[in-house]
Amino acid sequence: MAQIIRIENIADHVGETVTLQGWLYRKTGKGKLQFLQIRDGSGQIQGVVFKPNVSPEVFEAGKRLTQESSLIVTGTVKAEPRAKGIPAGYELDVSHLETVQVAEDYPITPKEHGVDFLMENRHLWIRSRKQWATLRIRALIMRAIRDWLDGQGYVEMSTPIFTPAAGEGTTTLFEVDYFGEPVYLAQTGQLYNEANIFAFGKVYAFGPTFRAEKSKTRRHMTEFWMVEPETAYQDLDGLMDMEERFISYVVQRVLKERRPELDLLERDISKLENVVPPFPRISYDEAVEKLEELRANTDDPEQKALLALEWGDDFGSPHETALTKLYDRPIFVYGYPTAVKAFYMEPWHGRPEVCKSVDLLAPEGYGEITGGSERISDPELLLKRIKHDNLPEDAFKWYLDLRKYGSVPHSGFGLGVERTVAWICGIHHVRETNPFPRTLGRVYP
Ligand code: 4AD
Ligand code: MG
Repeated sequence: MAQIIRIENIADHVGETVTLQGWLYRKTGKGKLQFLQIRDGSGQIQGVVFKPNVSPEVFEAGKRLTQESSLIVTGTVKAEPRAKGIPAGYELDVSHLETVQVAEDYPITPKEHGVDFLMENRHLWIRSRKQWATLRIRALIMRAIRDWLDGQGYVEMSTPIFTPAAGEGTTTLFEVDYFGEPVYLAQTGQLYNEANIFAFGKVYAFGPTFRAEKSKTRRHMTEFWMVEPETAYQDLDGLMDMEERFISYVVQRVLKERRPELDLLERDISKLENVVPPFPRISYDEAVEKLEELRANTDDPEQKALLALEWGDDFGSPHETALTKLYDRPIFVYGYPTAVKAFYMEPWHGRPEVCKSVDLLAPEGYGEITGGSERISDPELLLKRIKHDNLPEDAFKWYLDLRKYGSVPHSGFGLGVERTVAWICGIHHVRETNPFPRTLGRVYP
């Protein structure tokens, strides 16, 4: 055995003899040559086994390898411009090979499989190249999120999963029996973050959140990860300033550090390169006007029906898609009707039918990836809104306290990790952006 390295660092070892610990992805060859596509979790490389260069035992062992067999390979790293590995441009001249296990017949083969079959075998599917690339990008997105927030002085706070009341609408609550009392899985950490800002100024929560959403769409999960920054003394404009810097950093970081993965996913990089501040800021009123215009100008009756909307309606995905198509980067839509948004949002000054909310809509049909707002800071107004929405006042006693002891204007947002990964990777459905997704129809494996 030579020095054990990871394929992602292969460029540093050209000309050296190294050892890789991994699995066989694919195999071809004939006569005296075997071409082994080896993956080790960090990348993929072609190992060339040439009969005269190895012992007869090693050549025979190579022949017996099946898809997903585990193996330890030693060889010399060669720069080979035509080699298609990840990263591209390297090959391994194999001198020794040790089989750890010859794998049984692997259910996922190079032929096409249906999505249901692949989801049923998600524990194996994650080894496939596109799934692997997507989940590597997901991990970097999560790191970039933390790096940016930590760098700006935000303090990470863990918020509870068992909660006594709804944080984001009562229709999507998962109820859990808590020693005989009903409690709910957290839909958001926001309300607790609002307590945390009075202690720390700038905070964020980052964890799983739950919605008993009966929606079977490409954007909905029942369990998803959300990062939620919350900032004291920050108004709606300040929130948008912060969000556009934050999102741009995350996207540019992925472009810089995950190019091989983006290439493998055949992502159109130019679309991501546009993601730099400033993002267009469109009020709900303006958005409704633009949608009316688009509707008037289309000859397609189906599109006309899909875009139908009255002031006061929430946007559906056809509206979001049509709006974002007008721009080359994510857009903010702010000032939604109070009636379609959560109870805690600050009303617009002099226009209480509108609130200081803002959604960030991603381009290319991905739609809402963040939802946020300035929060109500006045105790009486907040109580009125809690009563108006028939929320249990007792459960919100502590939340109302926050408006009594040094209340300040404050704001925050939540970014859905899966929807963000889908957009950045150019993946159609959020189920491929989480290692083990939980959706309306699936909790296995
Ligand atoms: O817009 P939402 O519901 O906002 C909140 O929960 C606020 N309390 C956040 C805050 O201000 N701190 O959710 C925020 C984001 C959405 O924009 C979306 O990206 C994601 O969470 N999201 C979902 N992702 C996947 N599946 C679902 N069912 C989702 N529901 C929301
Ligand atoms: Mg929302």
